[in-house]
Amino acid sequence: MTAKLRILSDAPKSKINKNIYGHFAEHLGRCIYEGIWVGEDSPIPNTDGIRNDVIAALRKLDIPVLRWPGGCFADEYHWKDGIGKPETRKRMINTHWGGVVENNHFGTHEFFRLCELLECEPYICGNVGSGTVQEMSEWVEYMTFDGESPMAGLRAGNGREQPWTLKYFGVGNENWGCGGNMRPEYYADLYRRYQTYARNYGDNKLYKIAGGANVDDYNWTEVLMREAGQFMDGLSLHSYTIPGSWEEKRFALGFDNGEWFETMKKSLHMNELITRHSNIMDKYDPERRVGLIIDEWGTWFLSEPGTNPGFLYQQNTLRDALVAGIHLNIFQNHSKRVQMANIAQMVNVLQALILTEGDKLLLTPTYHVFDMYKVHQDNELLEVSFESPVYSMGEESIPQLSVSASRDASGKVYVSICNISHADNAALSIELVGTSARTINGQILTHSDLNAHNTFETPATVAPAVFEGASLKNGVLDCQLPPASVVVLTLE
Ligand code: AHR
Repeated sequence: MTAKLRILSDAPKSKINKNIYGHFAEHLGRCIYEGIWVGEDSPIPNTDGIRNDVIAALRKLDIPVLRWPGGCFADEYHWKDGIGKPETRKRMINTHWGGVVENNHFGTHEFFRLCELLECEPYICGNVGSGTVQEMSEWVEYMTFDGESPMAGLRAGNGREQPWTLKYFGVGNENWGCGGNMRPEYYADLYRRYQTYARNYGDNKLYKIAGGANVDDYNWTEVLMREAGQFMDGLSLHSYTIPGSWEEKRFALGFDNGEWFETMKKSLHMNELITRHSNIMDKYDPERRVGLIIDEWGTWFLSEPGTNPGFLYQQNTLRDALVAGIHLNIFQNHSKRVQMANIAQMVNVLQALILTEGDKLLLTPTYHVFDMYKVHQDNELLEVSFESPVYSMGEESIPQLSVSASRDASGKVYVSICNISHADNAALSIELVGTSARTINGQILTHSDLNAHNTFETPATVAPAVFEGASLKNGVLDCQLPPASVVVLTLE
């Protein structure tokens, strides 16, 4: 059966905020240390301590925004431990993640340097769980106050006269769990109080993000919007794709068709989560002033055998590529409300884009999806109407296709399509309404082995290729997608 799609390129729906392509880097396992930061004296080539190979790979993705320092780490992080001469910085235990020593060599100055090198916006998450209002308030002053003040003086003493520009600021993380085990009513009040003292200094205007719900905790969103909605610019949501269950996770490799199907079904669930959280937000904020910020998402598997389980290091297969493609399509299709998303995490942790081992680096299938999809950043979302063929396993059925489309300022149209089925081709006939496209180019990411992944020995097993399966005739685009594939088309 051929699926028929209509893309209305003359009726843009909303702008796709490029921050949907955001990232997250936590002091967890080998994400910051080894993955990003090696220190100036390392034999691994670096700029001010930050790995050159990682910077080069990430710059290619046009990363818009980077969240730091956590995660659960954020609510145990005391920022003053991470400033001043590195050798005098406090050594502490990273209690949440593996009980290893955290030497605080990567702190505020190093994070802003990383963002400068990546040319992305910093997104800092402050400590509500174990920090004081004063501590959070002083951090904002340290980073953004221009003039004479105790914190601006401290910053200048540490070599940085000029303040940084900081827009995105999170007031706590997962405050229903690792961020203090709070009830929403209690956190809503704390949020109101902490954010009061996170000041806007000079021209620096903070976009304040409240710690949001875990997965389908709709009551959390309801209470936060009702009690504190007027004091926030964004409200977060965290949801990971976990085959099996939280208690009984599965490995990243060695999965069967059943686990593939389950993973796809769980990825598609993001659509329902966003719809239902957005409906609650609509009740309190019909103008959609408050953005839904999905600042942690991605696959969560058992750690690779032989690695520290507290480091959350996992391989990344073609399955992760489909998970990424599905999520990005969903975020784009909800771009009226979703203003940012941050995949967890950038390097060496969970659904990473980059894996490193010593001086070696590899790009994962997830990296390639971000690279292929980056053409959508800041475009107008287009309306796509279609009825997806069904992908079934046993008694269960899900849509076989995930699609989103956008148009850039020059009029080029981009269509990203995931064929979710592990076994069936998808035949598509796409009618383009309102455009007179004459040429078509495409890229595809796929493999005959669902478990295919890149290793340090064979780093290009899963890599994008030119897509040959599309033809354009009289305004109708015919496509043949192989099973388990991600395709991005450019029409001009
Ligand atoms: O990304 C790993 C952890 O997952 C984060 O620290 C936490 O916020 C979430 O539970």
